[in-house]
Amino acid sequence: MNTIYILNGPNLNLLGTREPEIYGKTTLADIEQMCQDFGASRALAIQFLQTNHEGQLVDWIQEAAQKAQGLLINPAAYSHTSLAVRDALSACQIPVVEVHLSNIHRREPFRHLSYVSQVATGIICGFGADGYLLGLQALLCLLGNERGPRRS
Ligand code: DQA
Repeated sequence: MNTIYILNGPNLNLLGTREPEIYGKTTLADIEQMCQDFGASRALAIQFLQTNHEGQLVDWIQEAAQKAQGLLINPAAYSHTSLAVRDALSACQIPVVEVHLSNIHRREPFRHLSYVSQVATGIICGFGADGYLLGLQALLCLLGNERGPRRS
């Protein structure tokens, strides 16, 4: 059975009440349930975690690199600020999908640069909570468990 780590950065514990006009009304617990249901239907073990602390995120990225076959990460504001998170991801030998609920490129200019995007395998943003499921689907394709997009 493949294990996927899903890591969530600062303030994502507030989803549901935090700026719902931007992030929607779905809570992080709802998103975890969606991901656990998806994982159960595809024989994936999902480790779903959230922290407000940069060092904790780095520790979990290093743990995922040892224990998981794929990593989905919403680094939240650390996407735009953290070289430590970027470097931890760069050292990962497993596929990494970066996800954002909002389309960071339609927002303030300071959100347009993500250090994480430079080392992620791929990026999904702007699809709200569904982005997590799209990201899991992408990881399944990368792991060879499902067909990806047609190439011809
Ligand atoms: C976010 C986008 C970031 O710019 C922001 O700091 C967040 C959430 C998103 O999911 O849309 O906290 O990662």
